[in-house]
Amino acid sequence: MHLTSLHCNLILAYAVSLDFSFSILLYVLHKNQYASIAKEECMKVARYLKYGTPEVLQIQEAVKPIPKDKEILIQIYCTTVTATEAIFRRGRPYFSRLFTGLLKPKIEILGEEFSGVVTGLGQNVTKFKLGEKVFGTTGTNFGAYAEYVCLDENEVILSIPKNLSYPEAAGSCDGFLTAYSFLNKTAKAETGQSILVIGACGSIGSAAVQIASSLGLEVTAACSQKNHDLALMLGAKYCIDYNSTPYENIKEQYDIVFDTVGKVKYRSIKNILKSQGIFLQAGITLDILPLVLWTKYFSRKKVKISATGLKPKQERLEDFRRIHEQLLRSTWKPVIDRIYSMVELCKAHEYVDSGHKKGNVVIQILKD
Ligand SMILES: NC(=O)c1ccc[n+]([C@@H]2O[C@H](COP(=O)([O-])OP(=O)(O)OC[C@H]3O[C@@H](n4cnc5c(N)ncnc54)[C@H](OP(=O)(O)O)[C@@H]3O)[C@@H](O)[C@H]2O)c1
Repeated sequence: MHLTSLHCNLILAYAVSLDFSFSILLYVLHKNQYASIAKEECMKVARYLKYGTPEVLQIQEAVKPIPKDKEILIQIYCTTVTATEAIFRRGRPYFSRLFTGLLKPKIEILGEEFSGVVTGLGQNVTKFKLGEKVFGTTGTNFGAYAEYVCLDENEVILSIPKNLSYPEAAGSCDGFLTAYSFLNKTAKAETGQSILVIGACGSIGSAAVQIASSLGLEVTAACSQKNHDLALMLGAKYCIDYNSTPYENIKEQYDIVFDTVGKVKYRSIKNILKSQGIFLQAGITLDILPLVLWTKYFSRKKVKISATGLKPKQERLEDFRRIHEQLLRSTWKPVIDRIYSMVELCKAHEYVDSGHKKGNVVIQILKD
């Protein structure tokens, strides 16, 4: 049989319609992936499958987790966008990919700090009860860009101090835990010492200024002029505008220089360190690593770094208890800059990418 053009057109139309039907079938299957699951077993999450601009973060449906034996299910009210999460999302600097995945992110749901309510308990949970208001960190698994998360009851989680709102509680974890560990453990800071805090109004910086001043250190804050009032309110005695005053021109010398944001070269602050002074760097840069080793053995001035998130859980929980006490007394308070909703997560990341947030940027997933 010869194929006429009519036959050809019919076959083509049939093929196209088959292809079209198949596409519709795929679409319906995709749409219904979660339709067969009861609504209460679903949750919204923000997932990213590739590195890039904030738009890589996509709000999607996922299955609500079920707590294992020693886990609690937390309904998340607030989480935050930290500078670290912005780095993990960008995949830059490239060396961060050693932890997050070389070509694509290993952890698809970010979100480390959270505040929320315990809505489910594993069979053997003893530390928490249903309905308890909790805050803390998810640890290296992240996962708080979600409506629910399951965490081991021994993670860094405590009851929310009564005087803190959900957004404030979420913004009271990472900055305080990092600053507290650097000052108390890494530098062993003591009353009467002097400290220069660089990036004094960021998340770690705003915590470091409060912790150092309450420990009885004399605090000088390095931040933009517009943030000087905030730094003084947090407990700084002096302020320096890093935009107009190069560190080399500072006449003072300090026991500790704490670069909370990783913006400073050691050589530019070396001369403003006292003879046995310590340079701390939280925003770790690659070029600091040889200096840590060199100064450990060959210099009285020391360069020190620490990855506080990788410290043993028990140690972090102990630190968190100390922080909790001070939050409860209102001696330390989180600085909350902006609050975004979950659908505004990209906007929040864009803002954090600017590198000039004040304290903490909160994502409110559920309002109380
Ligand atoms: N080592 C660890 O254990 C650890 C733990 C957590 C986070 N981190 C890392 O620590 C770093 C800082 O985190 P963060 O959350 O505190 O950052 P952040 O809140 O985003 O820092 C923002 C602050 O940085 C200041 N800043 C920007 N450029 C500056 C410059 N050239 N000189 C001085 N200050 C400058 C801004 O001050 P102005 O607006 O006044 O200019 C702003 O207040 C990140 O790299 C993060 O990944 C390390």
